[in-house]
Amino acid sequence: MQQPPEEFDVRVADAFLPEQLRGIESPFDDVPEPEELESGSGPESDPSVEFRRTLGMFATGVTVITTLAGDQVHGMTANAFMSVSLKPPLILISVDRRAKMNALLREGTRYGVSVLEERQTELSDRFAGRVGEDSPEPRFEIVHETPLVDGALAHLVARVVRSYWGGDHSLFLGQVEYVRYGEGTPLLFHGGRYERVVRELRVFSELPSELLDPLIASGTERVFEDGDVLMERGEPGVTLYLITEGTVRVERPGRVVRMEAGELVGEIEVLDPGQGRLANVVAEGPVRAIAVAHDDVRAALEAQPTAAWALLGVLASRFREST
Ligand SMILES: Cc1cc2nc3c(=O)[nH]c(=O)nc-3n(C[C@H](O)[C@H](O)[C@H](O)COP(=O)(O)O)c2cc1C
Repeated sequence: MQQPPEEFDVRVADAFLPEQLRGIESPFDDVPEPEELESGSGPESDPSVEFRRTLGMFATGVTVITTLAGDQVHGMTANAFMSVSLKPPLILISVDRRAKMNALLREGTRYGVSVLEERQTELSDRFAGRVGEDSPEPRFEIVHETPLVDGALAHLVARVVRSYWGGDHSLFLGQVEYVRYGEGTPLLFHGGRYERVVRELRVFSELPSELLDPLIASGTERVFEDGDVLMERGEPGVTLYLITEGTVRVERPGRVVRMEAGELVGEIEVLDPGQGRLANVVAEGPVRAIAVAHDDVRAALEAQPTAAWALLGVLASRFREST
């Protein structure tokens, strides 16, 4: 049985509980030791590794938690951040008991939460102690006497109203005093790695219909039954399909999306067929589609330079978004 450390005397919580619940043992008292943790991968597997990997399947954003230590800013990367309550506005963070941050926070102190934007991986690494001092120097603004990381997607300032024992971590419940958010896309963390939000990649579908329709006009109609494979990952992407009836399942590693009538499938690969298809595409029920071969797309673009220019415009804006 693990004992909570002294600074988290859970009996104190009794004072806040209804009478009938007082004196009941803390649920933390019978936390199983790792060897008692059962993994679905079988007895050979290491339960603590399995536990970490299982938790890693829960995708999160990434934050930097900040506080003032005297007049010094201290920051720590954290993904164990959650919203708790709207009224009153409460949030929670979980901090490793060995982290310096853990010694700085206590009831009454304030912490800032900066939700990182997708290009802020270096900042995240820096506040996780992963990179040297030569990474770009972070800048802070001070709000409610609390530092917040410049350029983050969202900011919150909270005052610690309760702290709880959480095994090798401490939980700091904060009453939120300040919020602000901007425009942008969040950095994600999943499976122990940074990830980015994937937007549907559209190129031809961005063209106005007067430019797209003549391109599709050179295609031929094809009919598929449930389970038929329209495209296979890795094969040359020599055809573009416009789905005219039914639904297809687009299977990329780790991600499945469905596309319906009116949508184009294979619009990136048809511009670059030698690189191979990115996804398997399978009919879900009966599907009709217009197949346009790479050579026909090329001939149509050569005959219609306005469409070719419009496509370059779409590609340029995609390139800008990714840099
Ligand atoms: C993406 C990511 C998420 C993290 N989340 C947490 C977390 O939620 N809680 C925590 O205590 N440490 C977390 N860490 C580890 C801390 O950032 C790291 O231990 C840091 O060096 C602690 O800083 P400090 O000891 O200077 O306060 C995370 C690290 C990364 C890269």
